[in-house]
Order: sequence, then C-alpha cells, then structure tokens
Amino acid sequence: MKNFKQAYGKWALVTGASTGIGKAISLQLAKQGVNLVTVARNQKNLQLLQSELENTGIEVLSISADLSQPGSSTEINNKTAHLDIGLLVANAGIENTGEFIDTPIQNEQNLLALNVNSPMELSHIFAKRFAKKGKGGILLLSSLFGYQGVPQVANYSASKAYILSLGEALNVELKPLGIDVTVLSPGLTQTTMTQNMNVNFNKIPITQHRPEVVARVGLNALGKKATVVPGFINKFYAWENRLIPRSWPVKLFGFLMKRAIKVKNTLEAAPTH
Ligand SMILES: NC(=O)c1ccc[n+]([C@@H]2O[C@H](COP(=O)([O-])OP(=O)(O)OC[C@H]3O[C@@H](n4cnc5c(N)ncnc54)[C@H](OP(=O)(O)O)[C@@H]3O)[C@@H](O)[C@H]2O)c1
Repeated sequence: MKNFKQAYGKWALVTGASTGIGKAISLQLAKQGVNLVTVARNQKNLQLLQSELENTGIEVLSISADLSQPGSSTEINNKTAHLDIGLLVANAGIENTGEFIDTPIQNEQNLLALNVNSPMELSHIFAKRFAKKGKGGILLLSSLFGYQGVPQVANYSASKAYILSLGEALNVELKPLGIDVTVLSPGLTQTTMTQNMNVNFNKIPITQHRPEVVARVGLNALGKKATVVPGFINKFYAWENRLIPRSWPVKLFGFLMKRAIKVKNTLEAAPTH
C-alpha cells in the first residue's frame, strides 16, 4: 500500500467512519500514522472508534453530523478549516430495499441527499482545498449495483451510478490539479448495511467480502485507477455489462433480487407528493 502521509499529507477525512467499510478504511489509514477526521451520526460509536484510533498514536477529530441534512457539508468544511486535510473518503451511504412505490418518498429523498448530494458537495469543497495545495486524494464509494439499474433497490442503484459517473469524470478533470480520484464499487460486503437488509443473499450468486478487504482494495487503487471493483466475480459482473444488451443484467438482477427478498416491504406507501 502506498504511503498516504507522504502522498496526501497528515490528515484524512472519512464519512461513515463508525462502522463497516468506513471503519476499516479509517483503521488502515491510522496504521500508516494518518490523523483522522471521522464523521457519522451516532456519537457513542464515534467515541468508541476515536479511542481505538487514538490507541494507534494518531490524532482524531470526531464530528457527529447527519450528512443528509442541508448545510452539513459547509459545517464539515468550517469545523475542519484549521486542519491540513489531504484525503477525502466519501463513504457514508444508506440503501432502501423493496418495491419502489411502497417506499415512503421521504426515505428515497433522504437516500439521494446522503448518497448523492453529500459526496458531490464534499468533493466540491475538498477539491477546491486540495487544488490550492496542488495535491490531494478523493475516494468515492459507489457499488456493483451502480453498474446497472437494479430492481428492488432502484433508487439506491441509481444513486451509485451517479457516483460512478461523477468520479470517472473528476478523475480526468482533477488530475492536472494534482488530485487523485478513485471510485470504489464493492459487491456484497459483510457490514451492518447488508445485515439489516431483508434480503437472503445466499440466493444471489455473488461472493461476500470482509470490509477490511474492500478497504484495502480501494486504498490501493487510489492514484492508480479511476474505478475499482473488489473481487473476481464482481469484476466479471461489472465487465460483462459492456458486452451484452444493457437490459439483460437489469432483468437478471431483478429476478435474483425478487427471489432473495425475505420479507415484503410492509412500509405504507406515503402519498406525500
Ligand atoms: N455493504 C455492502 O455490501 C456495500 C456494497 C456496495 C457499496 N457499499 C457502500 O459502502 C458505503 C459504506 O457502507 P457499509 O456497508 O460500510 O455501511 P454501514 O456499515 O451501514 O456504515 C454506514 C456508515 O455511514 C454512517 N451514516 C449513515 N447515515 C448517515 C448520515 N445520514 N449522516 C452521516 N453518516 C451516516 C453510519 O453511521 P451512523 O449510522 O452513526 O450515522 C456508518 O458509519 C456506502 O456508501 C454503501 O452504499 C456497501
């Protein structure tokens, strides 16, 4: 793995750092002596992580913030203005599983605010900060589901397609400014997110990865690749999309997801629009 302190400086900021892939990325950066700004909502989890990270000898600033709220990116910028941050990991994300029309519109709006708006705003803010220094890194979290529309997680897969496209473009656009941008698109990863989904993943022929493995693949790719998909089978799913009609993988994932949903989404459709 590259020397992140040397490449991007003393501080990194990780959103959604308290659990899952974000926590694994934070611990791997801490091992290299990179100081961390960690962002998530749950203060208790952040405090636990802070102690674990400080035990490695690094400095930590924990920020409890709901990144789906308007103004949260500006708040993060203001609270970190005094720190020489050189690496942004925009990892926080949520999913909504189930029939699109059965999911309350507020849930879908929150998903877009967190999965799309927050990484876009933070990338904008930190790319400007990095451009002034002539160096920096941005790691964006998409998903294998971002490589095609996926029925039953339609809004989630669409949000991840946005991130994939944004990151691919920024990788080229920001390179001359000294800024590395990479999009990490994991397949199924053993985290709280997947544990809480009403999906029997045994019915979908994909391998599960540990968050530590996914974190390592993402960090290793930064500065080398525009996009990275951990795991051979996942890579195959992402690659074969380019060779066959676009509708085929959408239909395949639709069939697999419908078969794998354990409990029908019982949330009432809320006609709020
Ligand atoms: N797990 C998978 O199979 C998988 C596959 C592909 C892509 N991904 C992507 O990888 C990223 C991390 O997912 P994960 O599986 O590690 O999920 P996770 O274990 O559920 O972690 C999500 C993190 O985001 C934080 N978060 C959630 N809502 C937030 C909000 N409104 N404001 C600020 N922070 C918030 C959570 O902390 P709080 O709840 O305390 O806020 C937590 O730290 C996501 O973008 C996800 O879409 C995951």
